[in-house]
Order: sequence, then structure tokens, then C-alpha cells
Amino acid sequence: MRLTVLGGGGFRVPLVHRALLADRGKGRVTEIVLYDLDRDRIAVIGEVLADQAAGVPDAPRITVTTDLDEALAGTDFVFSAIRVGGPEGRVADERVALDEGVLGQETVGAGGVAYGLRTVPVAVDIARRVAALAPDAWVINFTNPAGLVTEAMSRLLGDRVIGICDSPVGMGRRVAAALGVDPASAWFDYAGLNHLGWLRAVRVGGRDLLPDLLADDAALSSFEEGRLFGAEWLRAIGAIPNEYLHYYYFNRDAVAAMRAAPQGRGALVLEQQRDFYARTGGAPGSALEAWEATRRRRESTYMAENREAAGAGERESCDLESGGYENVALALMRAIAHDERTTLILNVRNRGALPGLDADAVVEVPCLVDANGARPVTAAPLEDHALALVTSVKAVERAVLEAATTGSRPAALRALAIHPLVDSVTVAQRLLEQYETDFPQLGYLRGKAKR
Ligand code: G6P
Ligand code: MN
Repeated sequence: MRLTVLGGGGFRVPLVHRALLADRGKGRVTEIVLYDLDRDRIAVIGEVLADQAAGVPDAPRITVTTDLDEALAGTDFVFSAIRVGGPEGRVADERVALDEGVLGQETVGAGGVAYGLRTVPVAVDIARRVAALAPDAWVINFTNPAGLVTEAMSRLLGDRVIGICDSPVGMGRRVAAALGVDPASAWFDYAGLNHLGWLRAVRVGGRDLLPDLLADDAALSSFEEGRLFGAEWLRAIGAIPNEYLHYYYFNRDAVAAMRAAPQGRGALVLEQQRDFYARTGGAPGSALEAWEATRRRRESTYMAENREAAGAGERESCDLESGGYENVALALMRAIAHDERTTLILNVRNRGALPGLDADAVVEVPCLVDANGARPVTAAPLEDHALALVTSVKAVERAVLEAATTGSRPAALRALAIHPLVDSVTVAQRLLEQYETDFPQLGYLRGKAKR
């Protein structure tokens, strides 16, 4: 089986490779095609993969290409994990918004809108090439903003594109540990959009254990989301929000902490990665060592400003291990390729599963996965306050999709101005101008560049 990785020089590629090496099952991936525009990044990641595969029998064969069509032709699975504008783009997404006093974050708020505006046209082009060259392939989309990008691609690929995120599975693991139950024995009633969802129930043996957790101060303070949001707020909404909802519920605090930080998240990640990708040569094993050290540094500082604003302290050591990102991807691929039915929280077209959203809206909900793909499981309606947020943000996504597919600048302005975390149209106007100045990729909004 062949897997094509778009963004093959990306920092998290070794995680996926590691999971594939551990997969000894029949019909596993035997060939990995790494596609990236940046040969230098691919070369460094290639060294890490070689270190990882050393001594592993039958490790998948790795090929490298900068030609998209070559990468896609006849492939079985596509992992898309690209970053349009590179890590430098993320820095600008965040800084421009923070300079205006509104949230500057990779996927949430104005930063997420800017990232979406430059990513969707590229994702749509990729979807077109997949439809032409590998119409039977399944596309697993990691590319952020993942819900929005998955919806853009689904307009061309239908249900053959599935979006994934490690955040819900991470929360499930932490909540299960706080409850002292095996996550595999639990049904997590989680619903919303990517980076905008709520865990409303945890069923074990037919009983919902979430009320017990919400009543238990000690248990709530034992895991990340409990500390981020605090017992009082969690009891007030009767659910555990995705960690990204901290940017909404504690917006002022988060923005203040981010503006006070010596360096934004994007800038910190960029700096760490610059050092890593600049490395050349070295003894066997040294690329893997450097990568692992960089990964740990990155994980330990994840959402540091939010944790500081909440007084939540350091991350738990178990949260520094990876496992979410690559394991969701591998589980999804295996379920489809081998018809091993499983349940995963994924980003798929709604098809009536979550009331209040139309059939084509990509939502993040538990899905049944098998050789037929991923089907969302019918979910209870969201509470009014949650649905209100979800429909607002879906309207933002739809405006981004309109701008990116028709070149409409008014739609881009609308996307920024209607975002719940952008508090004035004048701010949205200035944000759009500044993003257009910083990103040549947005020239299409003024009829300048290829879309
Ligand atoms: C989580 C999210 C990803 C996001 C990443 C950012 O894993 O689910 O969607 O890209 O965090 O992490 P970073 O270390 O780059 O801030
Ligand atoms: Mn994510």
C-alpha cells in the first residue's frame, strides 16, 4: 500500500513514520512518497526517518518528489499536512492580529481566517489533482485550519476526504485518566467544529460519568482542561470544552498574556525549527536525537500563555509524549484499508448527524469508520450557547470559502468582521489590509494573483 505525504518535510512527519514502523499487520504501508516544495527540509526529515528505520525489518520504502502529480498518481492514501506561507506565515498571522489587540492564533480568530484565506486555494488545487490522478485514494487532512480545509476539499472529493486533529483524542485520554477508566471502554459524546467542540458525556457501562467528574474538585484539577477552565466554569456549562475554547471563554486573559509574552507561539516554534532544520550531517542517530529534543521543547511550551493566564502550571509529563496525532491517522487508515471497524472523532460532512448544521457542513464528531469511510454518528443537539458559537464560526468559514473560491474581497472582509473574536468592522478592515500587505498569496482578493 502506498501513502503520499503532502508536506513531507514537515516536522511531525517522523511521528507518522514511527507509527507506520510499528504497524506489522498484513497490508500495511510499504511505500511512502514524501512530497514537499522544500528539498532542504525533506533532506533533514529524511535523515530522521533513516535513523528511525535503522534495524527495523521491512521498513516502508521512502521516495521523495517535488512534483505533485508524480506524488499523487495511483496512490492509496494521501496525508495532507502543508503550511502555506511556511512557519513565517504563522508568525505574521498571529502578530498582525495581536497588534490590533485581538487574538492572534494559528487557527482561531483573525489569524485562523488569514491562514484559511491563503490555504484554501492551495487545498482546492490539490483536491482537483487528487480527483484526477488518484480518484480512489482517501485523503486524510491534517492541514489547518483543519475543519475549514476539509470542507473546502470535500466540495471536490466528497466523503473521500477526512479531517483529523489530535485535540479531542488527547482530551478523551486525559478525562479517562481523571476518571480512572480505560479510554477504550468509554463512549465520548463530543461534538462541534474542529478546535471548537465540547465533551458532553462520558459513558462507561451505560452510565454517564461526566457529572461525577464535574463534582470532583481534585479530579478536575488533575488534568489540563480542568485546570485551564476551572471547576466553576465547567460546572456552569456542564461540559468539558476543547482546549481551544480557552481563546473564546477567557479571551481577554489569553490576549493579554499573549501580548505580554516575549515572543509569540509562531515565533517560538519558528526559532526552534530553524535551529533543527539548519543541522547537517552528524553521526547516525543524531538527526533523530535532535528531532526528539526539539519536539519535547515544543510540546512543553504548548499553549503556555493560556496556562499562564489560567494559573494552570506546567503540562503533565504524559501530555508531552505524542500519540494523538499519528495514532489517529494510523487508526483511520487501517480501519479503511482493512475494514477494521472502529470509532474515531473526525472531521466529516455532517449529513444530518449534528442538528442545527446543514448536511455539507464539516463537523467534528464521533464517526464509525470502516472500508466505506467515516460516517458521523447521530449526536444530541448542542446547547444553545454552543450552537450559537458553532454557527457563527461556520459562517466565518463559509465566508472564507466564498472569498477563496470566487476571489471576493467583500467576503474576506466579512469573514474577519463577523468572527466572534473580532470586535469591530474597522479592526477587520485594517486586519485585511495588513494581511494583504504581508501575504502575496492574498493578491487574488484584488484580482492580482493566481487563485
Ligand atoms: C495541536 C492542534 C494542531 C495545532 C498544534 C499547534 O496539536 O491540534 O491543530 O497545529 O496543536 O501546536 P504548536 O506546537 O505548533 O503550537
Ligand atoms: Mn488540531
